[in-house]
Amino acid sequence: MSRGPLAGPDFGHPFLCRLADIPEGGGRGFWFGADTARFGVFVIRQGDAVWAYANSCPHRGTPLDWLPDRFLDRDERHILCATHGARFRIADGFCVSGPCAGGHLRPVEVLRRGARLFLAARQSG
Ligand code: FES
Repeated sequence: MSRGPLAGPDFGHPFLCRLADIPEGGGRGFWFGADTARFGVFVIRQGDAVWAYANSCPHRGTPLDWLPDRFLDRDERHILCATHGARFRIADGFCVSGPCAGGHLRPVEVLRRGARLFLAARQSG
């Protein structure tokens, strides 16, 4: 399973990682919260561009990665759900094939502070 955030909140937003911590052409997953409030997020990087989505497949709600931080298909052109093989466009999360074709991954907003990435959603409490 993917790791949690590497550091505490910064300016009220949960810290994810540095851009360089995500492999070029790859992704990285994060988990927040506990028990029923637990939720996963993953970030895909291509150069300086990043896209982030909730780590929950629209088909059955399972995490997409079956190995930590493995979110892309073999040719790294689509996000892949490891459970039943649905494929999603990286740029907008649209499902192009699989049991949830026509559906979407839920986008997650990410903020940048220099080379650091944060969840846009603020920490509660
Ligand atoms: S759970 Fe993702 S394709 Fe079925």
